[in-house]
Amino acid sequence: MAHVVGAVTTAHVPAIGNAIAKGLQNEPYWKTFFDGFAPVHTWLERVRPDMVVVFYNDHGLNFFLDKLPTFAVGAAGEYRYGDEGWGLPEMFAPFMGDPAFSWHLTEALVRDEFDVTTCQEMLVDHAFALPMSLLWPNAAAWPVKTIPISINTVQHPLPSAKRCFALGRAVGRAIQAFPADLRVAILGTGGLSHQLDGTRAGFINKEFDLMCMEKIVYDPVALTRFSNLELIEQAGSQGVELLMWLAARGVLGDSVTKVHSRYHIPISNTAAGLLVLEP
Ligand code: DHB
Ligand code: FE
Repeated sequence: MAHVVGAVTTAHVPAIGNAIAKGLQNEPYWKTFFDGFAPVHTWLERVRPDMVVVFYNDHGLNFFLDKLPTFAVGAAGEYRYGDEGWGLPEMFAPFMGDPAFSWHLTEALVRDEFDVTTCQEMLVDHAFALPMSLLWPNAAAWPVKTIPISINTVQHPLPSAKRCFALGRAVGRAIQAFPADLRVAILGTGGLSHQLDGTRAGFINKEFDLMCMEKIVYDPVALTRFSNLELIEQAGSQGVELLMWLAARGVLGDSVTKVHSRYHIPISNTAAGLLVLEP
């Protein structure tokens, strides 16, 4: 049977892509941030995942305001990276998919009353590709298959924190029911506090972020009680990307072990949180 080896949650700021493309990892602005991933690499060497289920939010590349699914699951054989307007180069090899697993997942989710959109063609943006590159910075080819799950955090109404956490739980059950001996890691990308536009552009709330990083480990249900409006008030309009962290945490079940944790402000306009959790 497939099983979950753990989860990584991280920010996905486009400026990280620029730093990677230009080889700035050891520059003073970037060094502490990139160094924060060394323990993640050690952890990945230990748990050796075959597959990564990635909860991310598409930012207008594969979906736009005209058609925007709440939850979309990739069911393609491969996913190509695209730049939705940040000026990042074509810097990533295609990500390999696993259609058999995707259809198993979709069947399980719909049976569980999550009426997801299935995507047999899907481009993935910075929110998917940059975290993958932070996990495997030196890979000549991606060492894992990937299953993208996109959560709408772009156009309101957004799914609630409670619903995203429940989606994660359903994904966890589906993984455990997959009849192949797969080691599955979970990646949740986005957050923590940030706001890119309006009069609060640049808003960061360290106190709230640190509370979230504590609660998501030991009491994630407490975070599901926040409405999206409350999350936006507390963490900025893009801080609602915490939803992807909640989905990732939901997969892991009730109790987890914290393997690694970092909080770095700012990267661009964002409080860059990083967690590694094991079930
Ligand atoms: C930034 C952060 C994001 O999450 C994003 O999707 C785009 C930009 C930023 O801080 O620049
Ligand atoms: Fe984002």
